[in-house]
Amino acid sequence: MGMIVAPSLLSADFGHLERDLVMVNRSDADWLHLDIMDGVFVPNISFGFPVLRSVAELCRKPLDVHLMIVRPEKFIDRFAELGVMSLNVHYEACTHLHRTVWEIKERGMKAAVTLNPSTPVSVLEDIIGDIDMVLLMTVNPGFGGQKFIEHSIDKVKTLRDMIDSRSLNTLIEVDGGVNFETGKRLAEAGVDVLVSGNTVFASPDPEEAIRRLKSL
Ligand code: DX5
Ligand code: ZN
Repeated sequence: MGMIVAPSLLSADFGHLERDLVMVNRSDADWLHLDIMDGVFVPNISFGFPVLRSVAELCRKPLDVHLMIVRPEKFIDRFAELGVMSLNVHYEACTHLHRTVWEIKERGMKAAVTLNPSTPVSVLEDIIGDIDMVLLMTVNPGFGGQKFIEHSIDKVKTLRDMIDSRSLNTLIEVDGGVNFETGKRLAEAGVDVLVSGNTVFASPDPEEAIRRLKSL
């Protein structure tokens, strides 16, 4: 199976959102990654349900939602109603992570747990068998266009070993500072899904950038 690529809408041109979504629909992108920020869990605010509703209507790719908000469990039903494919909640934002993961799955979505750069992979030991995907942050969450944190490569390898040694098929997704160079090394370390904001949307040819990321 080739690399799964999820362009991050955060780097799109919000003045021409429909144009950018038409590009994503036409492209070889597998999913669309949507970053929800509340200004509390992360030092930035992105977009909320009115924008998401329009995106869900226009986008023909499965929606991969990344919640950078406190108390994400409050909104599980709302995301299920929008037809979201996968819901990523931060380990650092969930007191009752196991309950939240099961609520997401009961609502028919794939459950993914996200780790900040300083959170070790070892915290997943007692939840890894219950989840569909792990999203490793390879920058500090909150902004697009940041520099890739090198230590992430070691974290991917540790997580790959944890998943393979248990014969699980949990996907490994990475988010932040992914370009053709870091993406290649992440692929070699065992990543399944690359999220990419700037590398896709700041490219003169976003569809070609998506094709290149898929081939890594
Ligand atoms: C950052 C977001 C990312 C962001 C990635 O908090 O979670 O999804 O859009 O952007 P790039 O690929 O530009 O680092
Ligand atoms: Zn994200």
